[in-house]
Amino acid sequence: MAEPSRMASALFCPKVMSDSVLKLHHPAADATATTWTIHSATPICLRGTVRVPGDKSISHRALMLGALATGETEIRGLLLGEDPRSTAACFRAMGAQISELNTERVTVQGIGLGQLQEPESVLDAGNSGTTLRLMLGILASHTDRFFVVTGDDSLRSRPMGRVVKPLEQMGAKIWGRQGGKFAPLAIQGQKLQPIHYQSPIASAQVKSCVMLAGLMCEGETIVTEPHQSRDHSERMFRAFGADVEVDVEACRVVVKGPAQLKGQPVTVPGDISSAAFWMVAAAIVPDSDLMIENVGINPTRTGVLEALQQMEADITLENQRTVAGEPVADIRVRHSKLKACRIEGAIIPRLIDEIPVLAVAAAFAEGTTVIRDAAELRVKESDRLTAMATQLQKFGAQVSEHPDGLDITGGTPLQGTEVESWGDHRIAMSFAIASLNATGTTTIHHAESAAISYPDFVPTLDAVVHN
Ligand code: S3P
Repeated sequence: MAEPSRMASALFCPKVMSDSVLKLHHPAADATATTWTIHSATPICLRGTVRVPGDKSISHRALMLGALATGETEIRGLLLGEDPRSTAACFRAMGAQISELNTERVTVQGIGLGQLQEPESVLDAGNSGTTLRLMLGILASHTDRFFVVTGDDSLRSRPMGRVVKPLEQMGAKIWGRQGGKFAPLAIQGQKLQPIHYQSPIASAQVKSCVMLAGLMCEGETIVTEPHQSRDHSERMFRAFGADVEVDVEACRVVVKGPAQLKGQPVTVPGDISSAAFWMVAAAIVPDSDLMIENVGINPTRTGVLEALQQMEADITLENQRTVAGEPVADIRVRHSKLKACRIEGAIIPRLIDEIPVLAVAAAFAEGTTVIRDAAELRVKESDRLTAMATQLQKFGAQVSEHPDGLDITGGTPLQGTEVESWGDHRIAMSFAIASLNATGTTTIHHAESAAISYPDFVPTLDAVVHN
């Protein structure tokens, strides 16, 4: 039966489409690839209620801390994407008992800090930077055990020196391609020493890797960063019983080891990075009105809300509450005329994963949106600056690429086209959102990657699109 709010909105925007707006097909040359074809011939609008999948960052951390704790960790609302599946597979291979993954209830029987077993084979982090970088901090401190970690083509081309360097300063023994810059990496576990690491980049993966290594050190492991990055590790470390001090002003976190972690219940809120697709979709498609329920609004993640509000998007937060230590709200977004804005500086780490879809919003905003200080986007699952610049241009958008950002001048109507997503989940879904307000047909290659963070993206799109 339809949810009440969807039934209500259907009164104003009846769902009469007999066919799906988005069609999938598998190219003959590569059966593992999926191409999306989106045809928005008649005017459409987005209406109803969406529940986004669990937060990816929190899902990884719940599985990892659950494995390192003593006792049982019960996780509700886990993201069932490919990335947390990679984390679960790696920790199972090291002896953690993790029940079958589902969104209802997953249990992790922890084996205790420092107690992971040497795996019999290579640990494969798949496409997941968070799995690989956070796991390195854990493995490096497991004395007398040997590990080899790797990932897919994308992950093996992403920089690992940023975590290998501080771990080596702590005494870790790590070998890898190009002097430890790229996976595969081999780790011989050691007793580590605490350090004060001043990270040159605001990266929660770097910070969390050093914090995880610090859990087993005697004394204070300190990380400072140029701007504050997401703080899910800090919150969850505390909930599991670790001694953590945070100085938000100084962007500094202190972990006092050795810690003792105790299994906890974790409720994972909806992922604001997944919600961002629907926020932008409702903002740019005329006559839209979407309610996105149960979204995590941790202040270290809400840059996307602030940027859209600066663009004069019609966004309201309802039913604000705290769930298992994380702030949560329902977010209502209605179509409105957007204005260009500047996105740079300290806000960048707070919306780093939402920049591709914000670039789509900018293509529909009046004026030139300027994005700077975002060179990190070049080392994500793909080079997201080049991906957005080159492919949005194919839609007819006015975009210029800069070493650390983009200039996007909105107002030119977009036309459906054929685009490449380079197997990057956020790029594929961003183009699907752009296509909803483009004329004609859009074809998006290698869109199977949506399953990394949002396995139900296509059925959700079908449920909210009306004409
Ligand atoms: C993440 C941190 C961010 C983000 C990634 C998830 C995390 O990466 O882009 O999707 O869970 O810690 P960086 O730390 O590289 O900025």
